[in-house]
Parts: sequence; C-alpha cells; structure tokens
Amino acid sequence: MITFDEVVKIYPGGSTAVDHLSLELPTGKTTVLVGPSGCGKTTSLRMINRMVHPTSGRVLIDGQDVAGQDEALLRRGIGYVIQHAGLFPHRTVLDNVATVPMLLGRTRRQARADALAVLERVGLDAGLASRYPAQLSGGQQQRVGVARALAADPPVMLMDEPFSAVDPVVREGLHREFLRLQQDLGKTIAMVTHDIDEAIKLGDVVAIFRQGGVLAQVGTPQELLEHPVDDFVAEFVGRDRGLRSLSFDSAADLPVRPVADAGPDLVLDEAGRPVGWRSAAGVAGTGGVFTTADSLRMVTDLAISSPVGIAVRVGADGKADGIVTHHDLADFLTARRGQRAAEPTA
Ligand SMILES: Nc1ncnc2c1ncn2[C@@H]1O[C@H](COP(=O)(O)OP(=O)(O)O)[C@@H](O)[C@H]1O
Ligand SMILES: [Mg+2]
Repeated sequence: MITFDEVVKIYPGGSTAVDHLSLELPTGKTTVLVGPSGCGKTTSLRMINRMVHPTSGRVLIDGQDVAGQDEALLRRGIGYVIQHAGLFPHRTVLDNVATVPMLLGRTRRQARADALAVLERVGLDAGLASRYPAQLSGGQQQRVGVARALAADPPVMLMDEPFSAVDPVVREGLHREFLRLQQDLGKTIAMVTHDIDEAIKLGDVVAIFRQGGVLAQVGTPQELLEHPVDDFVAEFVGRDRGLRSLSFDSAADLPVRPVADAGPDLVLDEAGRPVGWRSAAGVAGTGGVFTTADSLRMVTDLAISSPVGIAVRVGADGKADGIVTHHDLADFLTARRGQRAAEPTA
C-alpha cells in the first residue's frame, strides 16, 4: 500500500502544488489520479519515487517512509512510464527494454531474454525487437515504454498520462491490453490522467483533484458516479453520465442480428472467427470484438470505432455469433432509458 499522509508541496517561489493530501493506494490495485491540468497530479506521483520531495507530510510504501530510503534502491522497485514513452532513441527496442534488467546486474544475454519475454507480454511482435523507437507507431512505442517499466518486475508502477499521446482508436486497444495485463500481474499502480473516462475505465480507485492541489473525492468509479460529494465532482464525472454508467451494465441482454446480416464485407477465417472488414484498401482489423461478459460501454466503443459502425459478438470459442449496428444499439439504449425512467425510484 502507498500512503500519502498530510502531504504538502510548495515549489520554491510558487503556489501550493499539493495541499494536505491524505490518500491510500491499495496494494495490487490501480489508483488513478485525475483532474484538470496543473492540479498537482504529476507532483504527487513523483513524490512516490522521490523525484520530488514533500515540503511537509510523508509518503509511505508498505508503512516505510520513502524519505529514509536510498533513492536508487527505491526506484528499482518502482516502474515509471511517461507520455511519449520516453524511450532512448539510439537504442533498439530490445536494448531499451533490457536496460533495467542490466542495471539490476543481469548479464546482457539474460537481460535480452527477459526483454523478449516482456515484449511478448505487452503484445509486441518479436520482429520489432531490432527496430529503433522512431521506426514504431505511437501505440507500439507506448507498449515498449510499458514493457521497459515491467522488465524488472517491480511491485509498484507509476504511470503519468501513459496513453494520452496516441489517437483514440489506438488508445482503446492499449486500454484493453492494460486491463488484461494488470489482471495477470496485479501491480500496485498509480496512474495520472486528465481524462475522466480513462480514469473510470482503468481505475479500481479514482482520486479526483481540483485546482490548488486539493483532493476533491476518492472512491470506486461507481461510488463517484453515484454519489459525487459536491458540484465540482458531479460536473467533472457527470458530463454524459449516461454513457459512462454503461461501463457497469452487461451486454448479455443486448439483442444481436445474425452474422450473415453483416454482408460480405465481414471477413471470417475458416473456423468462423472474425478477421476484419473488407474495403477498397484491403482488410482492416475489426478493432475488437465483444462477448456477453463485456459491458455495454465496450460495445458502444466498438460500434463507434468500427469502420462500418458494427460491433461483432463472439462466443466462448471465438467464433462470430452475432452483430450489432450502431443504430440497433442507439435504439436499445433509448428504449432502456425509457424503461428506467418509468421504474419507481427505490
Ligand atoms: N518544478 C516545478 N517548479 C515550480 N512549479 C512547478 C514545478 N512543477 C510543477 N509546478 C507547478 O505546480 C503545479 C502542479 O503541477 P503538476 O503537478 O505538474 O500538475 P498536473 O500534473 O496536475 O498538471 C502547477 O501550478 C505547476 O505550474
Ligand atoms: Mg501532469
């Protein structure tokens, strides 16, 4: 557990960046710090690995004040991922990722083997290992950044706007990968973002900051959506609240059309698993599929980001078993809102 105990940060000659922050980040969970620009999120994050020192108050990891710890030792246990990945431009992907294991005393050979394993974990093809960062897409660079932070298998990860510099469709893929990875790894993660949607999607716990470095509210996404403590939080989480609350509603009851209704543009492999959408330019990936275990929010994201406005559902065997057009989805959501409004409030 990471604990902020009445932490204040005032930069020399500046105003208060962080104002009496008390917050607990549970072990093995993702805590997202979110709020408008300049509200002290990055400063708070950097006090965990001692890149910034508190003016007063304490930051503790598992009950130990970080102020008393050797910086180099402390940082070995803390992965750090930043926007634009921060990769070394003159080192290959493999050597970027192998850097930390080598610093930890692994031989070059062991470090490279570790690096290859972790690249695979974040969904990067081994064929990319010999490239230089400039030869990768933004999304691939960001994956390398995550791989590098994970290479030393640190129990704690700090992530500062890790997905902010990539376009929305790529970001969607990175989010899904992040959730999958974190489900396997269970790291203690502190993530910073200015995007409330991202916070709600990725955070087990979300801490909302306001200007002046003041913590406005902390809770699970559902708690924040359902019981905002004041107008600031309500306004911050509340825009388009209907869409956000879809994250908690299952796609199990969503009616689907037969796969054949998608027409010849939906490309399936021999087993009937979706491959992508055919267009004049070739076959583009589906951008993702959903199952009855996913949320309506996921289906909405898929339908919106699909080149043809259609989300494809698959069964447990990975075979396509239905489709939903964004028109069907809109009708379903409208009817459902009508039903809910008619229900007596408990
Ligand atoms: N090194 C610094 N020196 C002086 N002021 C700083 C420094 N870093 C950040 N600040 C100020 O502290 C406040 C909080 O900044 P920051 O933690 O970067 O916010 P956020 O990450 O939420 O955008 C801002 O007013 C910023 O200008
Ligand atoms: Mg910041």
